[in-house]
Amino acid sequence: MAGQTGRGHNSGVTTTIDPAAIDIYDPDGYVAAAPHEVFAHLRREHPVWRQEMPDGTAYWAVMRHADVVEVSRQPLRFSAQVGGVVLEDMAPEQLEQSKNMLLMMDPPRHTQLRKEVAHLFKARAIATLEAAIRKVCREILDRAAARGDVEFVHDVAAFLPSQVFGEMMGIPEADRADINRWAEQSTSGSDPDVNPDADAGGEAGGGSVQMAVYGYEYAVRRRSEEGDDLGLALLRTEIDGQPMTDLEFAYFFVQLVTAGNDTTRTMLSSGLLELLRHPDQLARLRADRSLIPSAVEEILRYANPLHYFRRTATEDTEIAGQPIAAGDKIAMIYTSANRDDAVFADPDRFDITRSPNPHLSFGIADHFCLGVHLARLEGRIFFDELLDRFPVIEQTGTPARFRSNLNNALKALPVHLGT
Ligand code: HEM
Repeated sequence: MAGQTGRGHNSGVTTTIDPAAIDIYDPDGYVAAAPHEVFAHLRREHPVWRQEMPDGTAYWAVMRHADVVEVSRQPLRFSAQVGGVVLEDMAPEQLEQSKNMLLMMDPPRHTQLRKEVAHLFKARAIATLEAAIRKVCREILDRAAARGDVEFVHDVAAFLPSQVFGEMMGIPEADRADINRWAEQSTSGSDPDVNPDADAGGEAGGGSVQMAVYGYEYAVRRRSEEGDDLGLALLRTEIDGQPMTDLEFAYFFVQLVTAGNDTTRTMLSSGLLELLRHPDQLARLRADRSLIPSAVEEILRYANPLHYFRRTATEDTEIAGQPIAAGDKIAMIYTSANRDDAVFADPDRFDITRSPNPHLSFGIADHFCLGVHLARLEGRIFFDELLDRFPVIEQTGTPARFRSNLNNALKALPVHLGT
């Protein structure tokens, strides 16, 4: 182990690593834990790192906070639409369809659609859901209490986003488990447990087709209904002076489910795991619930649910002095940016009182998470209710993580919940 060099962008880690040995694409490298030591090394030595992929192509991994912000702020130079937001290139017809999703649109279409839907997700609109979210949390925790020993990811955390989304959209109870499963399949393609038939290395795909069909049928079924729930409001949203078509709605539906389900589930399950790993922080939070909002932000920083999103350069340019050619892939590595010590003091420390906490777990700028207020509210209410309901929370087995360079997520967390 050699001493670290230079100031800023380190994580207090003192490892020197042979560049030839670095592979931050390989999903196997994320199974035990996110490769924070390698990321710290890259922030220090190669802040815009050229990473080869198994298919022989390469991408630029942007490691530092300031550079991730810079890339996010230039949606025309660094497009979400040209190649989508995951590193694996999609088939042309799949890419064409994805362009109907907000996440994968560029201005001016993105700006226009975002303006139309933004009011439905504003803090004030989402705050009206507080009582409903609390009720859903209590029901979930009552069921968990009856069992005592649970696999927290799927028996507890998974229910919150799908129940809340189901309530907001008027989705029948009986359909919610299917939607959950499709969401997990569509975002965790390279984990063999979730997608046994997936092509090795493929991240996107399975599940989203079924979800789009469901969204389409939902639009057809509900379009003529009276009312003002989120689903009906979205169905009435106009693009270019016309209401969303059933197909456009289907894409929006897929977008909401894939963006909101697994990420929220992960915030809850990884959040609990970090609290269990840091008993002093858990005790502090139990003693002072006014810390819940900053604890949720620290959970999001420290255990961000998404490792990265991709952009594609639309012109010859540079990032932090590194020449980038038109057509090059760029990955904004949120997991690394969130531990950049140019921004966060003692970044590897989990500190529920951290303030300010300008993490990038929701992205930043044009594509900043549309569901941010919903996710935060769900996180705050859930942890408040969880701590109220269970004076005893103990890990009863080894947690398992997804094999994924995209989803920084647990797939199992055995715990005992004691009343
Ligand atoms: C902890 C939970 C969540 C995390 C960590 C998260 C993360 C993110 C990130 C990183 C982006 C930005 C991507 C970029 O810059 O390309 C994003 C965008 C988005 N998120 Fe979330 N998200 C969460 C919850 C939600 C929820 C609950 C919803 C649904 C209500 C949602 C809907 C969206 C949508 C629609 C976009 C695209 C926005 C746009 O392109 O304008 N997210 N999210």
